[in-house]
Amino acid sequence: MQNVRDKIEDARRTIQSVFKPVPRVGIILGTGLGGLAGQIEERVTIPYSDIPHFPESTVESHAGQLVCGTLRGVPVVAMEGRFHFYEGYSMQEVTFPVRVMKALGVEILLITNAAGGMNPHFELADLVVIEDHINLMGDNPLRGRNDDALGPRFPDMSQPYDKRLMALARRSALELGIPSHLGVFIAIAGPNLETRAEYRMLRGMGADLVGMSTVPEVIVAVHAGLRVLGFSIVTDVCLPDALEPANIKQILEVAARGGERLAQLIPHVLERLDHA
Ligand code: HPA
Repeated sequence: MQNVRDKIEDARRTIQSVFKPVPRVGIILGTGLGGLAGQIEERVTIPYSDIPHFPESTVESHAGQLVCGTLRGVPVVAMEGRFHFYEGYSMQEVTFPVRVMKALGVEILLITNAAGGMNPHFELADLVVIEDHINLMGDNPLRGRNDDALGPRFPDMSQPYDKRLMALARRSALELGIPSHLGVFIAIAGPNLETRAEYRMLRGMGADLVGMSTVPEVIVAVHAGLRVLGFSIVTDVCLPDALEPANIKQILEVAARGGERLAQLIPHVLERLDHA
């Protein structure tokens, strides 16, 4: 079996054969949040199926391509569509693109998702800067033999989300007149949404947001030494005593609204990276 470092190298070489700049920021766009990719300039688009060892994305709302280019002058690679654990991929497959971003030269991972809002102060389409997370997925992408060339055996998780980037994001939101919150994100495996009893439990555990992604990629990003900035868009309000049946169509509509806010905010943040 091919060593994971060789696989990362294969993917890196393929991407660099068509995109020469060294990307500074890697972006992962969550469900319904792909709008930002349209703003990337001097772009080269690579379908995941053309990148060696990339799994293929199976969710319809995800485009499944890597968009490389510049955003406000910053070289970026953006994943339009991510791989979810609930689709049946292993944690290593879900996080492989983060390894490839690191190999390409990325320093900062900017990661987004659609999430259920459990904090009663959150409203539909609200933007939340992720300040911390809880891994309740029942698996871990770092399980197994550690490759010390990729990162340490026991990575520190005392501050997975970069404080200066969080502050820059909140300041930028304020400047743009976009309301924002800070919140703790809890990841569950999915694919079903939660029962009332589960929402009550997750809230009691200290989480403001719940979703089916992000935490595996962030764990690998921290392992790889990347600075991380995470955003959730609240696509459904998950208050156990006032729970409405989930409506996936509505979740995607709300994600699109929140996605417009992210599409405004992220370029503003990138323009000011040197102040973080
Ligand atoms: N639960 C889990 N994942 C989600 C939710 C939710 O309520 N909303 C959007 N993604």
